[in-house]
Amino acid sequence: MNFEELLFQRRSIRKYTKEDMNPDTLQKILQAGLLAPSSRNKKPCQFYVIQDKDILKQLSTIKPSGTFIGDANAAIIVMADASLSDVWIEDCSIAMSYMQLMATALQVGSCWVQMRKRTNALGKDAEEVVKEIVGAPQTYRLVGILSLGLPAQILPPHTIDDVDASKIHKI
Ligand SMILES: Cc1cc2nc3c(=O)[nH]c(=O)nc-3n(C[C@H](O)[C@H](O)[C@H](O)COP(=O)(O)O)c2cc1C
Repeated sequence: MNFEELLFQRRSIRKYTKEDMNPDTLQKILQAGLLAPSSRNKKPCQFYVIQDKDILKQLSTIKPSGTFIGDANAAIIVMADASLSDVWIEDCSIAMSYMQLMATALQVGSCWVQMRKRTNALGKDAEEVVKEIVGAPQTYRLVGILSLGLPAQILPPHTIDDVDASKIHKI
């Protein structure tokens, strides 16, 4: 698959088989996150890899649009040491995107689960809930969770019709 095909192929996959991902595959996805550029090369992103079923279940109960994390083979919680950079949201978002593209290239299903600025059913800040679960330091801030697993659903790739060229402004 060339890079252009990869961009069309990437879809948010929320259904996973019970099969384990190859550890090398997971490592390559993490490496993609570590290869992402960062402002002033400060590299503030931190990656918590969760494969423990109980912790995946805990993460899946935080918000309704993240329940599928409970069936994922792995979840990568992306946080930043916000004391290192004031643009950690941008840095971590790029890392999340790199990892999602690498997952697609390796035939792994993935979906971004938003946690920053979200609350759980009890109205508690989702970021605080996740930080408590993994015991993250005070200066760490959460950007999101990437759920991963071998796909149990096939979504059609995007097509050129999905590209809204009216959003391109040539001045
Ligand atoms: C910043 C961001 C946050 C997202 N949060 C969620 C989420 O909490 N739950 C979810 O199921 N999908 C989430 N998604 C996936 C989007 O719903 C998905 O990318 C969008 O519908 C387009 O579909 P596609 O990824 O298959 O192209 C998120 C995507 C992004 C980029």
